[in-house]
Amino acid sequence: MQKFKKKHPLVLRHVPVTLYTCLLFFLILFTAVFISSLWSTLSTTNTKPTTKTVANQTLVANAPSREETTKQSPTLLNCSRGNQTTCSNKYNYPTTTSETEKNEATCPEYFRWIHEDLKPWKEKGISRETLEMAKKTAHFRLVVKNGKGYVEIYRESIQTRSVFTIWGILQLLRRYPGKVGDMEMMFDCNDKPVVPVGLYDGPNVTGPPPVFGYCVDRWTRDIVFPDWSFWGWPEINIRPWEHVLKEIKEGNKKVKWKDREPYAYWKGNPYTTPTRLDFLSCNVSTDHDWNLRLYTQDWIKESEQGFNHSNLADQCTYRYKVYIEGYAWSVSEKYILACDSPTLFVKPRYYDFFTRSLQPLQHYWPIKENDKCKPIKHAVDWGNNNNQKVQEIGKAGSNFIHEELNMDYIYDYMFHLLNEYAKLIKFEPRVPEGAVELCPESMACTRSYSKEKEFMSQSMVNEPSTKDPCSLPPPFEPMSLRIFYATKQNLINRVERWENEYWKNSE
Ligand SMILES: *[C@@H]1O[C@H](CO)[C@@H](O)[C@H](O)[C@H]1NC(C)=O
Ligand SMILES: *[C@@H]1O[C@H](CO)[C@@H](O)[C@H](O)[C@H]1NC(C)=O
Ligand SMILES: *[C@@H]1O[C@H](CO)[C@@H](O)[C@H](O)[C@H]1NC(C)=O
Ligand SMILES: *[C@@H]1O[C@H](CO)[C@@H](O)[C@H](O)[C@H]1NC(C)=O
Ligand SMILES: *[C@@H]1O[C@H](CO)[C@@H](O)[C@H](O)[C@H]1NC(C)=O
Ligand SMILES: *[C@@H]1O[C@H](CO)[C@@H](O)[C@H](O)[C@H]1NC(C)=O
Repeated sequence: MQKFKKKHPLVLRHVPVTLYTCLLFFLILFTAVFISSLWSTLSTTNTKPTTKTVANQTLVANAPSREETTKQSPTLLNCSRGNQTTCSNKYNYPTTTSETEKNEATCPEYFRWIHEDLKPWKEKGISRETLEMAKKTAHFRLVVKNGKGYVEIYRESIQTRSVFTIWGILQLLRRYPGKVGDMEMMFDCNDKPVVPVGLYDGPNVTGPPPVFGYCVDRWTRDIVFPDWSFWGWPEINIRPWEHVLKEIKEGNKKVKWKDREPYAYWKGNPYTTPTRLDFLSCNVSTDHDWNLRLYTQDWIKESEQGFNHSNLADQCTYRYKVYIEGYAWSVSEKYILACDSPTLFVKPRYYDFFTRSLQPLQHYWPIKENDKCKPIKHAVDWGNNNNQKVQEIGKAGSNFIHEELNMDYIYDYMFHLLNEYAKLIKFEPRVPEGAVELCPESMACTRSYSKEKEFMSQSMVNEPSTKDPCSLPPPFEPMSLRIFYATKQNLINRVERWENEYWKNSE
């Protein structure tokens, strides 16, 4: 394994500049225009707002309530107080913050993608007409007016995705009261992005519909937003991120990297996509050992057993963890990266809001999408022979998650994204008739499943931040973005060269 020592993977600075220029052709791929009919094939039915009934059901259901008598603990969720079907500020929650501490810190690098995501509207802004086009696939419209949030529901989302996404935005409004600009946004809670690149370019076109969603790929330009799981995913018992992150941090201390199982580990549902299905064949068997230990997650069985085998913090006992996307990006990503064990990252198609800034060999180990078993075998062998370097990769990926993706930064990301977006709006935002005002009691106290209420209570922002958000870094220079992509590709190629050598030598 001596041969690897010469090329320390972490030294990105010494990549020759000529390589960057050689690889410019890759950028053509990124800027190429792919017109997809996806947008037009999307549901055109059900465009009539069903606001009132749906909103009543999901947000202001029949809650028994007692009249408010005292005003103690105004900030904690208290479901035995007041009239929970209406919002009022009788709990004295501040609507503005006066003096807050200046925050000198610049936000993490991945915040720069905010500018990229909003670029299509940079010149012309967003007209009402453009916004309304986004209604076609949106699950809800969320309006911020004078610091208050209102929602108009258009269709039911999968599980409680929309509820927990809306809950997250409400917490942002509580964290920075009065500081999020007036705006109207449309949110699509499905897995896949829907706005094709290129379809809305041209002199007579008003620009793409601004659709907020959870991920994008190279062919789409939805606006990426943190997914619901940061506030909890009750259906599969994933607690709010803040709590899980702490648990994983504690869990990481229990088994040192060297004492972990010297294999790659994956647990999930393989029956979602072809790429996951053929991944099944990489599992250890009597015929071969590709250094992978793969387990299927049976969520139905888990839920019957009270989820006591799916604790994420207990899944950091292998030296390597595999990330492989599912139907689109997978929520599992942040939990996998947080383990201190390097992530073997199967080349993804979809990117959520933070993955775009991760670099191969720095934060993760890249695995080809079309041929997964051999690269995994090689990666694990490489790592078991280069303990220090591979632990650095594991640590860097993990540090990224623990330090740059904690809840403080999640709120700051949302804050900047929504405020930058609000600046682009060229009309007077208004609260639609029949929209429901958002407040914790009307959202949380009326949930029928106790776990939902519990997670909301745990993830509730109980007082305004005393500190300003970090400051938004400027947009990428076009050149630096090109260098970023070129470096990424260069590092992926380097790993492939190592792999080829490895297999040639072992023949
Ligand atoms: C929903 O709300 C509207 C207006 O607030 C009301 O007229 C209607 O009866 C409610 N529906 C249900 C099912 O509560
Ligand atoms: C919740 O509100 C009720 C009624 O105002 C009050 O009696 C109770 O002490 C409150 N609970 C907490 C935890 O503040
Ligand atoms: C709560 O407020 C709504 C709307 O104002 C009202 O219709 C309802 O009767 C109130 N419920 C209670 C228990 O006071
Ligand atoms: C754009 O608008 C102009 C003026 O209305 C019209 O002459 C032209 O045909 C339009 N172009 C396209 C591609 O629709
Ligand atoms: C993968 O192999 C391990 C070890 O033999 C086994 O326990 C596990 O059930 C296998 N996974 C699947 C999905 O068959
Ligand atoms: C897991 O939950 C089931 C059902 O509640 C219970 O019978 C079992 O003892 C639990 N196992 C552990 C390890 O806690």
